[in-house]
Amino acid sequence: MMDQHGTAPAIFGPKDFVHTGPDTIMGRYMRLFWHPVYVGRDLKAGRAAPLRIMNEDYTLYRGQNGVAQILAPRCAHRCTQLSTGWVEGGSIRCFYHGWKYDASGQCTEAPAERAGFADNVRIRSYPTQEYLGLIFAYLGEGEAPPLPRYPVFDKPGVLSASSYLRDCNCYNNLESNMDSLHTSFVHRSSAFTTAGLNWALPEISGEETGYGIVKHGTRPDGQDRRSPFFWPNALYIRSSPEEGDPDVWADHIGWRVPIDDEHHVSFTVNHVALFGDDAERYRERQRQRRARREGLSDPRAEGQAVLRGEIQIDDLKDRPDIVNIQDYVAQVGQGVIADFDHERLGRSDVLVALFRRILARELQAFAEGRPLKKWDTSEEASASTGVKN
Ligand code: FES
Ligand SMILES: [Fe+2]
Repeated sequence: MMDQHGTAPAIFGPKDFVHTGPDTIMGRYMRLFWHPVYVGRDLKAGRAAPLRIMNEDYTLYRGQNGVAQILAPRCAHRCTQLSTGWVEGGSIRCFYHGWKYDASGQCTEAPAERAGFADNVRIRSYPTQEYLGLIFAYLGEGEAPPLPRYPVFDKPGVLSASSYLRDCNCYNNLESNMDSLHTSFVHRSSAFTTAGLNWALPEISGEETGYGIVKHGTRPDGQDRRSPFFWPNALYIRSSPEEGDPDVWADHIGWRVPIDDEHHVSFTVNHVALFGDDAERYRERQRQRRARREGLSDPRAEGQAVLRGEIQIDDLKDRPDIVNIQDYVAQVGQGVIADFDHERLGRSDVLVALFRRILARELQAFAEGRPLKKWDTSEEASASTGVKN
């Protein structure tokens, strides 16, 4: 059936958005974008690691030349897991019988085979780039588009990248990113309390832009908090650093990336405009925070304990990672996949609804082979958004 504009009504909804395997519409769509897949400093030169992203496995390694590369998960010979092998120069050698692959996926040695045998063996290699302290990959078909740049984060200052896992569908988190209202409840007892945030309930509004969605949260006194969301999965907010350093306001961007349909990972980058001694002092405080966190129990286990009723969330309010645990409880508490049949959206969910509409429109176009919107994160696109509180 056509509507009055002569277009078919959207047939895709949240139950499609939660599946990102390679044969799903959402999975195929999401593979048209670059995604962060690893924190760069967590992968030392000469090391390999298995990766799982959007229900598919990969091999990630960093050559002795320092270059990170993603290849197919398995060796072409008898299909053992390639990440268990040895990195040699810019190549990786299989643990099982020593076949060696270069960064293009070309097999360059098959030690027990005749000369020339390796020439006809190749595994898949994926475009891989490092940016803002993260390793990004293009996991889709065809030629990769240029890696988007985020000009606010390219400016001089101190950058820090990190990641965390959450035991629920990525889409729970994406919709939480559309929902600024939750901050007033979920994060009520947190470092945000001391950071001078305005706690009055915001009036939520927003609209589609060239880069994604601009979110507005307008307080009764007229103060407007504006946060850009970069299509399809990155939220940009200006906030004090997580552990409440009230004098330092950071630009913060977080990408949500599915691992499978029941787990996802967030990659976050913080940027603060500090220089010289100020930057050094800030780095030192960050080191101390990291050291404090290393001695703590796993935040996911604490979140699960809250969900099982063994402890209350406010028992944890002095933990430095309380914001993460609070979001864990709210998002995993929706169920690994939220119950879209029984939800009741209200006025404050206007951006959740907008996000769904845009996603449905793009998936519809993709399914019908029509052109997709070209998103633009460049300076002109994102600078006008101003995110000061
Ligand atoms: S399985 Fe990799 S070399 Fe045999
Ligand atoms: Fe949150």
